[in-house]
Amino acid sequence: MKITIIGTGYVGLVAGTCFADFGMDVTCIDNNTQKIESLKRGIIPIYEPGLEELVNKNYNAGTLKFSTDTSHLNEADILIIAVGTPAGKDGNADLSSIYSVINDIIAHVKTNKFILIKSTVPIGTAAILRQTLQDKCKNLKFDIISNPEFLRQGSAVRDFLEPDRIIIGSQSKDAKEIACKLYGPLILKDIPILFTDNNSAEIIKYAANTYLAMRVAFINEISDISEKLAGDIDDIAHGLGLDKRISKHFLHPSPGYGGSCFPKDTLALSKVASEANANCLIINAVIESNIQRKLRMAEKIIDTFNGNIRGKQISILGLTFKAETNDLRDSASIDIINELIKHGARIKAYDPKGMSEARKIFGTKIEYCKDSYDAASNCEALCILTEWAEFKTLELDKLNALMLNPTIIDLRNIFSPNEIMKAGFNYISLGRTDIIMDNECRNYQKLKVS
Ligand code: UDX
Repeated sequence: MKITIIGTGYVGLVAGTCFADFGMDVTCIDNNTQKIESLKRGIIPIYEPGLEELVNKNYNAGTLKFSTDTSHLNEADILIIAVGTPAGKDGNADLSSIYSVINDIIAHVKTNKFILIKSTVPIGTAAILRQTLQDKCKNLKFDIISNPEFLRQGSAVRDFLEPDRIIIGSQSKDAKEIACKLYGPLILKDIPILFTDNNSAEIIKYAANTYLAMRVAFINEISDISEKLAGDIDDIAHGLGLDKRISKHFLHPSPGYGGSCFPKDTLALSKVASEANANCLIINAVIESNIQRKLRMAEKIIDTFNGNIRGKQISILGLTFKAETNDLRDSASIDIINELIKHGARIKAYDPKGMSEARKIFGTKIEYCKDSYDAASNCEALCILTEWAEFKTLELDKLNALMLNPTIIDLRNIFSPNEIMKAGFNYISLGRTDIIMDNECRNYQKLKVS
């Protein structure tokens, strides 16, 4: 099967590479010449574990091609739209890239086509696309398939190859058949595939991201309650997750969710819901709770210094919105660092993969360090904002010796209070202040942290 993917960003590149790995003939198109030339030389524009090897393998085998030439649109059996739909100024998704793809299709496509939308688009977009193409290309037939993507950054290749489900929204039997061919290798592995209408498929995508964002906002609020009432959030999340109806996933407290999806998709769903006069009280509360969460985390750091951080050297470990990505979009680190700077702190920071993106955001406002120890040196508090594995194995004695004041503020709960306090640190984490656990007898002891 010949596939052309329009938009070689995160979703397009991962999907295109995996379809090529299934043995399909894939061309990935993008209007960014520099990106396409880099990809041809084997340089991957994003950090995503396992992707580089798979891109190079399939590019060298000739099943994966890269191009800026939109005339390829006509050659394909199926066109896949994977362009970005960032949040526009009013909170609605910005669909300008989708409209530009529609114009390219109108200009180049001369035969009937299946068009599969992987971009996250507002509810009703497939219907608009179908109508627009039908109006402009009267002699052609277009089957529009809504096929939302659920890839997580950091595990996108695995998520593509082992998804929990495949969602296909369409209006025709032919569309279903071609979707089955496209995903044949996954269907053989018994991955569930749900056929539905286009609007429902579009809603499933927004609802899935909003639901997950809601779980994060919820556990963050429970974490605050636990902290105020001397509970232990790790045990609380564990106890909640043992209920099969709840499940253990997405119950890890954090400085607030970020990334390219949750913030923009919750906002877009709220917008479409209110425009349709549907209630969106929960959705709006999730958005507001997460905004406040990030500011509250900055306050938590400031509180450690009794409210005055003017002139204090504070170090940040982890800038990306989560581990295993170089992406800082809507990362909690941005709001937290800006707030600390506003209150007069001097910031040094280190992230394993996010340094060049961080430079674009913070410019000369912060100092960039070569590693965690460099960041720790002479600081008065070390704040962990992202759960990178390498932070969990830092040599605590070495850190302690380097810091002016051995305080660790762990906003991802990567350390156990026992371990870190035994190493002589003043330790502040989420949802478990003052509590340390006696691992041997599995009892709790309440200890006062000095
Ligand atoms: C998300 C969805 O998971 C994916 O299905 C969708 O297609 C794209 O958006 P992603 O943005 O890569 O993926 O990251 P995800 O792992 O979902 O985390 C999102 C944010 O929530 C991160 O900031 C993360 O740190 C935070 N998070 C997640 C928590 O704070 N606690 C958790 O328990 C889980």
